[in-house]
Amino acid sequence: MENVVSLVDVVKTYIMGDNEVRALRGVSFDIEQGEFVSIMGPSGSGKSTCMNMIGCLDRPTSGIVKINGRETAKMNEKELSVLRNQTIGFVFQQYHLISSMNVIENVMLPLKYQKVEKSLRYERAEEVLEAVGLTERIHHKPNELSGGQKQRVAIARAMITKPKILLADEPTGALDSETGKQVMEMFRMINGEQNTTVIIVTHDPRIGESTKRCIRILDGQIVE
Ligand SMILES: Nc1ncnc2c1ncn2[C@@H]1O[C@H](COP(=O)(O)OP(=O)(O)O)[C@@H](O)[C@H]1O
Ligand SMILES: [Mg+2]
Repeated sequence: MENVVSLVDVVKTYIMGDNEVRALRGVSFDIEQGEFVSIMGPSGSGKSTCMNMIGCLDRPTSGIVKINGRETAKMNEKELSVLRNQTIGFVFQQYHLISSMNVIENVMLPLKYQKVEKSLRYERAEEVLEAVGLTERIHHKPNELSGGQKQRVAIARAMITKPKILLADEPTGALDSETGKQVMEMFRMINGEQNTTVIIVTHDPRIGESTKRCIRILDGQIVE
């Protein structure tokens, strides 16, 4: 199996005035194409820092981060943003939808950045919105939706570019537990049907235990 994510002895140190914050202290793991995996740990353990490495939003202080076979430390900002846009779909705790746009406009947006023609964008958006069960809501604004529906819009927007990796930071953090379960079901379905690698970052053990593999992180180190 091909590794889509590979971290080898990754250290990330933030400089805060005279202080150094060692957010990652030598983290190593591999994630294969098609895995459904969580990265779990308490607040401050380094999860978001780890996600920023995998999401090509930041580069390590030392160590090797390879995404889709490419070492991010050796790439410039432009190359990183291309890798990010073509390979990774992001889902966040607070959805990050654009409130002035309706559902389908939000979902089409990543394809606009890829300069895909409008009728094709619309068609693709309809498809992914059907897959997340929101066909009836395409002309609604985000503030007319429930939390679970907003997160499904965010998932559809992340999936419209057919990313190899779907990366979600606390995607159920703002939802009640029943809605959170439904959102996790959606990730499971995407993983199963499309072989998308799904990586869920969470502090919640129930979410961590519901994925096929759970990587546990504590104080910037992998503990299990
Ligand atoms: N941009 C930053 N500048 C300085 N310190 C940071 C920054 N981002 C995170 N940290 C610190 O790094 C550690 C890990 O943070 P983070 O990766 O956000 O953990 P988690 O997502 O698990 O809560 C924490 O001590 C946090 O305060
Ligand atoms: Mg975090």
